[in-house]
Amino acid sequence: MAAQLAEIIIVALPWSCLKEVLEQIDPAYLKNKTIIDVSNAVQFDNGPRLLFNNTSAGEWVQELLPDCYVVKTLNTINDKKMVHPNFKEGVPVMFISGNEIHSKNQVKSLLKDLGWFDIIDLGDIRQSRLQESIMLACVISEIQLQSPHSAFALIKH
Ligand SMILES: NC(=O)c1ccc[n+]([C@@H]2O[C@H](COP(=O)([O-])OP(=O)(O)OC[C@H]3O[C@@H](n4cnc5c(N)ncnc54)[C@H](OP(=O)(O)O)[C@@H]3O)[C@@H](O)[C@H]2O)c1
Repeated sequence: MAAQLAEIIIVALPWSCLKEVLEQIDPAYLKNKTIIDVSNAVQFDNGPRLLFNNTSAGEWVQELLPDCYVVKTLNTINDKKMVHPNFKEGVPVMFISGNEIHSKNQVKSLLKDLGWFDIIDLGDIRQSRLQESIMLACVISEIQLQSPHSAFALIKH
């Protein structure tokens, strides 16, 4: 029902059930819609690392939903900071990627409403590999610095 009514749909599911849940939704409800994918294909046993070498969660979701416009974003930030992302030292950057410009503009507008202002479009959905790698680098940095809920900022000249 939510998928049928929504203009924009956010995929925020654990990797383990993502495929199963998406396949339960009638594709007609999703056709031509913007899908925000915040998921990360990571595994934590034996040290945190990416699950795939040659693809990413973002590309995988786009393949599962070929009639939708997947936009990857918000996967690099803790859920408590997705809205009003203000840190003591400033506001981090937020990356987006996706194949369709109108959907990316829709998502940029939503991100601005949430409080993001440095929004960087990395390119098509293949660039979600970068975003998922940045997320993992952030998680490992948090562990090493013992500083949970950290985020990457871009230091400008
Ligand atoms: N947590 C974060 O800070 C964060 C930040 C950035 C990206 N992410 C990414 O976002 C994704 C979700 O992470 P999360 O921490 O939000 O996970 P989560 O809390 O474990 O799960 C999110 C929601 O998925 C639904 N769900 C879980 N198992 C399900 C199943 N078997 N069938 C149907 N629905 C199921 C549940 O919805 P209901 O409660 O409605 O059942 C649950 O509330 C992951 O890929 C993660 O990497 C997380």
